[in-house]
Amino acid sequence: MAILVTGGAGYIGSHTSVELLNADYELIILDNFSNSKKESLNRIRDITGKDFTFYEVDLLNREDLEKVFLDNQIDAVIHFAGLKAVGESVSIPLHYYHNNITGTIILCDVMQKYGVKNLVFSSSATVYGMPNSVPITEDFPLCSTNPYGRTKQMIEEIIRDIYVSDEKWSVALLRYFNPIGAHSSGLIGEDPNGIPNNLMPYITQVASGKLKELKVFGNDYPTNDGTGVRDYIHVVDLAIGHIRALEKIMSITGVEAYNLGTGKGYSVLEMVDTFEKVSGKTISYSIVGRRPGDISTCFANPSKAKEELNWVAKRGIKEMCEDSWRWQSTNPNGYEITIKETIRN
Ligand code: UD1
Repeated sequence: MAILVTGGAGYIGSHTSVELLNADYELIILDNFSNSKKESLNRIRDITGKDFTFYEVDLLNREDLEKVFLDNQIDAVIHFAGLKAVGESVSIPLHYYHNNITGTIILCDVMQKYGVKNLVFSSSATVYGMPNSVPITEDFPLCSTNPYGRTKQMIEEIIRDIYVSDEKWSVALLRYFNPIGAHSSGLIGEDPNGIPNNLMPYITQVASGKLKELKVFGNDYPTNDGTGVRDYIHVVDLAIGHIRALEKIMSITGVEAYNLGTGKGYSVLEMVDTFEKVSGKTISYSIVGRRPGDISTCFANPSKAKEELNWVAKRGIKEMCEDSWRWQSTNPNGYEITIKETIRN
């Protein structure tokens, strides 16, 4: 079975590509490298010992995208490609709406034209906005608080409308909680552009000496230690969730949303403490004011994914921290080409 992965060179896309190859799917990756590096593709091959087809294509270029569908007999699409920085989305909303929403509309239109109606969509727990309670179930109201989150929410709605118009579509909307960690080989991981916005890449860069200290955004939340609580999920567990979702959509039609989280919440200081223990590094930090738009506590009820996809997250925060640190310490500059890699290429 041939699977097209859009954004397959990115953080979650590359880990999912590894799991697809491990499960013997035929893989076609498409990426425009707007927030990813070519080297990640070599690493996917190194980890799996398997090959795949790659296209450097932007979803906004319909002609290029159609060529991918003409060249390949695609059975299903896993759609990751999109911009994902919350702060940036507030500064340049039109760019986010155009890229994420128009890109997805073009993708779905081309899928429809070529009769490919199986889709796994990369959504986010950010669609729940500020939930009234935790744990969060899939039937909670959707009310994103920023343009990035609204692109995810709008795409979910667009996809539901497509299904109403044509019931042959089968779609899993996967709402990720907080993906961290890296492949246990240390060969692929998160490679943020510039200074990281998210907690774990920030911690790992403090540990490696690239950044001076972590700023903890608020210690006056109604949590055990006052710092924000999140549902961190190992990116490999998340990637495996995509395989389970793919298996599910190939056997039925409809549109279903699934929370992919562990169901457990950890505070910022608990994450710092666990990271220090597994890495042997001290993470200097100072407490600063709350980050605008942040919520106190967010964690999933992942029962629906367990019952319907036969999926549960297996890796705990210790393993998440160990794997994040292995990736950072062996790739201090992410995928930036080193002399060794230049020779290989
Ligand atoms: C953020 C995004 C969310 C996105 C997710 C992707 C916001 C408001 N939300 O979620 O839409 O889907 O990333 O993974 O940006 N923290 C610090 N210091 C830091 C960084 C973070 O104290 O330098 C704290 C935050 O206040 C929060 C926790 O760490 O309590 C996790 O933050 P982060 O990793 O940015 O994820 P979210 O805010 O949950």
